[in-house]
Amino acid sequence: MCGIFGYINYLVERDRQFIIDTLLNGLSRLEYRGYDSAGMAVDGDKKNEVQAFKEVGKVAKLRELIAESKPDMTKSFESHAGISHTRWATHGTPTRQNCHPHRSDATWEFAVVHNGIITNYKELKALLESKGFRFETETDTECIAKLAKYLYDQHPDIEFTVLAKAVIKELEGAFGLLLKLSLPARVPPLVIGVRTSKKMKVDFVDVEFSEEGALPAEQASQNAAIKKSSASLLAPPDKSLLHRSQSRAFLSDDGIPQPAEFFLSSDPSAIVEHTKKVLYLEDDDIAHIHEGQLNIHRLTKNDGTSNVRTIQTIELELQEIMKGKFDHFMQKEIFEQPESIVNTMRGRLDTVNKKVTLGGLRQYISTIRRCRRLIFIACGTSYHSCMAVRGVFEELTEIPIAVELASDFLDRQAPVFRDDTCVFVSQSGETADSLMALRYCLERGALTVGVVNVVGSSISLLTHCGVHINAGPEIGVASTKAYTSQFVAMVMFALSLSEDRASKHQRREEIMEGLGKISEQFREILKLNDSIKDMCAKFFKDQKSLLLLGRGAQFPTALEGALKIKEISYLHCEAVMSGELKHGVLALVDENLPIIMILTRDNLFTKSLNAYQQVIARGGRPIVICNPDDPEFSAAQTEKIAVPKTVDCLQGLLNVIPLQLVSYWLAVGEGLNVDFPRNLAKSVTVE
Ligand code: G6P
Repeated sequence: MCGIFGYINYLVERDRQFIIDTLLNGLSRLEYRGYDSAGMAVDGDKKNEVQAFKEVGKVAKLRELIAESKPDMTKSFESHAGISHTRWATHGTPTRQNCHPHRSDATWEFAVVHNGIITNYKELKALLESKGFRFETETDTECIAKLAKYLYDQHPDIEFTVLAKAVIKELEGAFGLLLKLSLPARVPPLVIGVRTSKKMKVDFVDVEFSEEGALPAEQASQNAAIKKSSASLLAPPDKSLLHRSQSRAFLSDDGIPQPAEFFLSSDPSAIVEHTKKVLYLEDDDIAHIHEGQLNIHRLTKNDGTSNVRTIQTIELELQEIMKGKFDHFMQKEIFEQPESIVNTMRGRLDTVNKKVTLGGLRQYISTIRRCRRLIFIACGTSYHSCMAVRGVFEELTEIPIAVELASDFLDRQAPVFRDDTCVFVSQSGETADSLMALRYCLERGALTVGVVNVVGSSISLLTHCGVHINAGPEIGVASTKAYTSQFVAMVMFALSLSEDRASKHQRREEIMEGLGKISEQFREILKLNDSIKDMCAKFFKDQKSLLLLGRGAQFPTALEGALKIKEISYLHCEAVMSGELKHGVLALVDENLPIIMILTRDNLFTKSLNAYQQVIARGGRPIVICNPDDPEFSAAQTEKIAVPKTVDCLQGLLNVIPLQLVSYWLAVGEGLNVDFPRNLAKSVTVE
């Protein structure tokens, strides 16, 4: 989804080449999020002049366009602010015109890049048009730049942060944006990387709160009226309500701002190659960078939340976001799974003493044990991982479990109570539907738990407690290692919850032992890579459709496999609960339809075999995912993918890996761009 990258140098001389390269590299680090066009704005040759470059397609095409435009790359700037963006179209098709940055007017007095959606843009646009503004694009974003200009023209003396606050007050929706020189965030978050040559004096930045919101009461009510009627725009807030503090981190001993560079991004992956010092903005923070100083302002008055933002050192290594010896990120991530699940369990699962410790849940675990219901809420692959562990949660905790798709949960405005525990599972921690569902549950007083990969993401910050899955950055749009790590993290969660249950003692030990062996079993399965590649070429090439059958805990595996196949190979693939086959889908089965059936041994095996027989009886020739040497499938003509056996509730972890490989090789076989499937985004930050 849309990515933002900004670069600011202050008293650090950089030429245009360096600035443009930094922005382009930042954008290419964000490519994995999925996008369809890219653009940037940098300073022009003359004072107050802006040069913008916009192009449809990949960042490489934007790079070409810039090279063709031949800007003077040697021009140097002692201080400069450049902003850039990858766009995933929501309002208006992917065209140069609709690319960000957007401008207030022909002189680019205000330039803006934006991630998210402005839900009231139509009203704002109508209002601004009535004030004489002419819109050039179909985007919701453009109204931000025009609104800034309108307010500024009315009050030319206004401070930049006051103006930014006034603009943000008018916007509704979820957004993070860079207004040239200023950076307000309200989901999805922005990360600021800081590079200074001298050590920073302190490792935090003070937050300035507004005393009564940014607006005096009279103006606030006027403001509310505008939102309803769009009749007139607010007068800007009273400047005297703002205090200006120094951001101590960036001052030298004698109080003079020191040379500094700032990297502003939707994602730390784009920052790590420049600096490891980062600061995560919280919801509604406005970061204002001016003359080498970073100040954080809040729209709200101090509600007891922290009045500093810590400058942290990120642990991410550059190589973690590079492909290394692999052709695609997805392939790298599939092959990383033997290590990534160990990282998920590291320091948490003690297989010798049979103990699980999840530090992020410790304080809440007894409250969760007493909850009336556990509701798992997620989207996409993360939803499938929740479905995959539902059985083990029910079995170990005996708490009623619900698994919900975030969008549907919100559509229904499902009832949630104070004694519910709501678990939000998300790789990115930014998925808009999941995030909105989280807010919904918080409003209703439920206890919320996050199971998240990205540290510092909105879901990890907003939930009461949680588990980071520690799978490392996942760049491929199709989620693979996050799925297996979520699965393991949630099994450990279920193990923690059932620690006090004597009756579950043996079962818990069995599961912990199983977890201890999973990594080695992953390695064994990955050895099937070549045979799976051949199988894809032999059985699935030029097919129109594929069925994936599973039952019980293997139905979620089938769903996840089908999602992988659809999203990257564009082959229609349907997951069917084996028990339901006879109720309709069987009509599709003949000798030509490719079918994969998950038939590893568990307590439902005999029932699953019924479906197998029904398929065989219709001339179907299913490929079977089964345990090695299963006599049931000994016939030489049966196509098999043999996976090692583990505890039944963990079997899905192993069974999903061949399906990830099938989807990968199918897409590669079709010559498709595995890491950037069409129309999809890694982190879906719109509703
Ligand atoms: C997008 C991605 C999927 C992902 C889903 C949920 O659709 O393409 O791979 O499963 O969002 O994302 P989350 O970050 O919340 O797990």
